[in-house]
Amino acid sequence: MNTVTENVSLSAGLDMSNFWMPFTANKQFKAAPRLLKGAKGMYYTTVDDRQVLDGSAGLWCVNAGHGRPEIIEAVRRQMTEMDYAPTFQMAHPLAFEAATRVAQVMPAGMDRIFFSNSGSEAVDTALKIAIAYHRSRGEGQRTRLIGRERGYHGVGFGGITVGGILANRKAFSGSMIPGADHLPHTWNPQEMAYSKGQPAWGGHLADELERIVALHDASTIAAVIVEPVAGSTGVLIPPQGYLQKLREICTKHGILLIFDEVITAFGRLGKATAAEYFGVTPDLLTMAKAINNASIPMSAVAAKREIHDSIINAGAANAIELFHGYTYSAHPTAAAACIATQDIYRDEKLFDRAAGLAPTFERAIHALRGEPFVKDVRNLGLMGAVEVESRDGAPGTRGYDIFLKCFAKGALVRYTGDILAFSPPLIATEAQIEEIFATVRTALREVA
Ligand SMILES: Cc1ncc(COP(=O)(O)O)c(C=O)c1O
Repeated sequence: MNTVTENVSLSAGLDMSNFWMPFTANKQFKAAPRLLKGAKGMYYTTVDDRQVLDGSAGLWCVNAGHGRPEIIEAVRRQMTEMDYAPTFQMAHPLAFEAATRVAQVMPAGMDRIFFSNSGSEAVDTALKIAIAYHRSRGEGQRTRLIGRERGYHGVGFGGITVGGILANRKAFSGSMIPGADHLPHTWNPQEMAYSKGQPAWGGHLADELERIVALHDASTIAAVIVEPVAGSTGVLIPPQGYLQKLREICTKHGILLIFDEVITAFGRLGKATAAEYFGVTPDLLTMAKAINNASIPMSAVAAKREIHDSIINAGAANAIELFHGYTYSAHPTAAAACIATQDIYRDEKLFDRAAGLAPTFERAIHALRGEPFVKDVRNLGLMGAVEVESRDGAPGTRGYDIFLKCFAKGALVRYTGDILAFSPPLIATEAQIEEIFATVRTALREVA
């Protein structure tokens, strides 16, 4: 019987039956596991002692490379000094220091920082702040949330409500937050295939927000949330002018604009944030992952000062203003890791380094055009995707096979269906970027 609940094979001496793996084909994985045991710089080490070049910065998150001694030492020191302190009606200095450091690289004015522990929590936090903000201004009827097709905003009920990935939504469709609506996604292969950087076509797609406003009325809408560059559904680069237009329409109608920068914050596009890269300032910005190089779970929302002030000033002097928070908000070790990580970004100018590597990345990824099955290549900063033709009746299997081949040949890449996604750590060398795509080329030539 095809079951994994009992007697899962012992691989590398491990009983694999207890760990219910997230976003994983459990049966398939446990039949042929891929196990990592070490990580340093640009490389993972597998349990069978192979070196694997990290083409995806883990899950888009280890921007400063693996095993940074500065972060390890900061965590060790903090763990020794104080393992945990609450931040409900108590606090510790590193929480404030981490917030200050994060605020320093946020767009001007977005300097009020709420900490959480995952991208999903940051998204739920931002959605709640948006609703609370309107309520604080006497517009409590503004509760409707607008997301976008092919958006990924994590797995909380808020996140799947505004998210646009069918598989993540369908099982829970009756349990989502009522009233949400979605913008169309921005991907159009006829108009955009093989774009380098931002596609010229598609800015007008932001006008769909006017249609949604005309349907629901702006007075019911709290916020629009988008990833500036959609990551998890295959690196969908925003068309030129699109984000600017979304900003204009949101401002015109008093709707808050949330950028979900869980992937793009901290250098992925060669700037601290995508907001800075595109020159578009949202009202709320979510971040996670690279905030502390993914060393300890941590995420945050940056809010414009006036949003924070409106909520804070609406409360009485001794009242809790926002009934929201997590046991581990600004956990001391996560905060220590965050500060050490921000030091590395600053001292090694890693965002500039990413910008400097982007042309090499663009050339190397687009050199895959014309290889077997490739039907699109797209890129921005140090994010890129190669989309391959799906097998008849078996979508996703070719992407998976290419991913497996790359891993066997010593490169870790992401795949989502038949889209391969790339996001190397910002410390990569040009030669390592070339190596990642050379490995993909070999895999493409071998795959059926
Ligand atoms: C844009 C975006 N938002 C939210 C999330 C969810 O983050 P987490 O898995 O930490 O909950 C992700 C994860 O990849 C993401 O890419």
